[in-house]
Amino acid sequence: MARWAYVNGRYVPHALAAVHIEDRGFQFADGVYEVVTVVDGRFTDLDGHLARLQRSLDELRMAAPVSPRVLVFVMGELVRRNGLRNGAVYLQVTRGVAPRDFRFPPAGTPPTLVMTTRRLARFAAPAQLADGVRVITIPDIRWGRRDIKTVGLLPQVLGKQRAADAGAFEAWMIDPDWTVTEGCSSNAWIVTGAGVLVTREPSARILNGVTRRTLLRLARAQGIAVEERPFTVEEAYGAREAFLSSATTFALPVTRIDGRPVGDGRPGPVTLALREAYLADAAREAGRPA
Ligand code: PDD
Repeated sequence: MARWAYVNGRYVPHALAAVHIEDRGFQFADGVYEVVTVVDGRFTDLDGHLARLQRSLDELRMAAPVSPRVLVFVMGELVRRNGLRNGAVYLQVTRGVAPRDFRFPPAGTPPTLVMTTRRLARFAAPAQLADGVRVITIPDIRWGRRDIKTVGLLPQVLGKQRAADAGAFEAWMIDPDWTVTEGCSSNAWIVTGAGVLVTREPSARILNGVTRRTLLRLARAQGIAVEERPFTVEEAYGAREAFLSSATTFALPVTRIDGRPVGDGRPGPVTLALREAYLADAAREAGRPA
């Protein structure tokens, strides 16, 4: 099947999809993005992703390219054209095309809007669920506004490559006070020896994951004790369970941190229960068909 992308008002064959060399996304990483998962033909956590996109745009004083209604229409049309049942839609918005100048381009410069889809045969390999995944820890070298989902992802590119080189799935980034901020493309969680679910509170130090928010709601509904606070690498080493979350992984068990087994080295019950709950919730109310 032909693969389509969407670029500034047009559906174009993926191989021909392009933006101008003076696009500010290319010149300055002056853009934001979202990743929305499609599960069995339905968008997951759509409203949360749309709200965060608007927030990212507002924080950078960037204009929305189209209304949310049009955005969702285009997302759905791209999913339809690409015959996507399971996968993800990537949306990128930049401050548009203008001669290279650090200052904002003149008001009225149209933002760039690009959308692509990625098909996923499954959201996690059977071995990743049966055995869990490995993470390593690395210094967090990012900027001070990690709450904005910008396309400026160089620290994460380097971190993910370090993880891959070490045979790990993800790298958890560490602040100078030895607290874990988050993964390069996911939020970080532990379950303490006392059975308390811990994940860092939203602030400028992390991206407030949409999946994270839904998992917190589901955990509280299940009566699981929850603390939103920073945790240290040492605390993670000694945790009973650990997992990571993102739109494309949901809750994924972490069974080794820097080579040390977490708990008994197997995916934990809280993690697996939350993953199940997330998928059930997505099937029940993710709502809008793509
Ligand atoms: N990444 N933290 C970071 C730094 C992320 O890049 C992501 C998502 C998350 C989890 O957010 P959410 O639950 O809303 O996906 C946390 C996406 C999936 C990506 O860049 O591919």
